[in-house]
Amino acid sequence: MGQACAVSHPQSTLITGIGELVTNDGEPGAFTALTDAALVIADGTVAWTGPASRAPAADTVVDAKGRAVLPGFADSHAHLIFAGERSAEFAARMAGRPYRAGGILVTVEATRAAPDVVLRANLRRLAAEMLRQGTTTFECKSGYGLTVPDEARGLALAAEVTPEVTYLGAHVVPPEFAADPAGYVDLVCGPMLDACAPSARWVDVFCEDGAFGAAEAAAVLAAGRAAGLLARVHANQLGPGPGVRVAAEAGAASADHCTFLTDADVDALTSTPVVATLLPGAEFGTRQPFPDARRLLDAGATVALATDCNPGSSFTSSMPFCIALAVREMGMTTEEAVWAATAGGARALRRTDIGHLGAGARADLILLDAPSHAYLAYRPGVPQVAAVWRAGRLVAGSPP
Ligand code: NIG
Ligand code: FE
Repeated sequence: MGQACAVSHPQSTLITGIGELVTNDGEPGAFTALTDAALVIADGTVAWTGPASRAPAADTVVDAKGRAVLPGFADSHAHLIFAGERSAEFAARMAGRPYRAGGILVTVEATRAAPDVVLRANLRRLAAEMLRQGTTTFECKSGYGLTVPDEARGLALAAEVTPEVTYLGAHVVPPEFAADPAGYVDLVCGPMLDACAPSARWVDVFCEDGAFGAAEAAAVLAAGRAAGLLARVHANQLGPGPGVRVAAEAGAASADHCTFLTDADVDALTSTPVVATLLPGAEFGTRQPFPDARRLLDAGATVALATDCNPGSSFTSSMPFCIALAVREMGMTTEEAVWAATAGGARALRRTDIGHLGAGARADLILLDAPSHAYLAYRPGVPQVAAVWRAGRLVAGSPP
């Protein structure tokens, strides 16, 4: 007979001396924070939050020395499965050339030619970069393979690093289907979906002139939903169009970009649970006007912020950069921007366990090297994420 195992007690960690603790656990949809606070992590979740003066004992104690603690960022929109880069295209845009969705095909060619080991290394490098900047949950799309095996392998690689995997076979029509776009939509809704659905949670479509129209987008989302996937849409990025309406009609979790909106689009976003996910890195990288977050918030829409990290329109993995842009260029308060980058991203991913630090939440949190969340916009471009815990484990940086 073997020896009886001792019952293992989960290690608890008390983080105390927190100058500002962003919990987002007050009124639904609103930024909430405590000052002079403490938080206890046990068994990978938040066990307690409250005033530092009333903090319970724990196995390990971390003194935040007046710094701020936030929920980890939830980046709900990223394209991380690709090879190659397009810095020359970026430089040309900055010199006045317009952004066109056609650049996607440059990355498609490089991605198809790349072995798994290259795609995996690139994906993991970007995921690590995100983590160091405080992103504890990220979504990852396919969309640069556009053949059955290339889309399927991309999603299998993504599933190694995140549960939020999105099938974007409908990114653009690849060159071999240029004369038969309907045939490509059939492939996306048929054999490609069959090969991809087992690795994915989400289905997405780029609904835009030069990509897919309303009927095609609706067909892709319907097929995806029939295969058990949840919908999200690239909508109204490069001009006005049907994307937001298609997202609302499909019951999508999120309409992403929302750069060019009519009043009817804003109504659709306020009268349905579709989250408006704004991606200011894309407007930065394409010299487009920034989306009007103030208009959406004033109308009552739920707004999320995400990076759109991809080699074409937005090659940033930094949620702090997106927060700074949202505050400076999109009319968001610092509180609204931080809420959108944490709880908003969680809503866009239909997750209730992340984006907040209420008791029972997954202990995904960031210690800033700053006394308040406002410093993320106040000191743009400065690395201020001192330490990151995911599911209660210190995964990046170190406490003071
Ligand atoms: O979200 N809009 C479509 N897809 C990406 C751009 C991809 C690319 O340019 O490679 C986006 O901006
Ligand atoms: Fe995108």
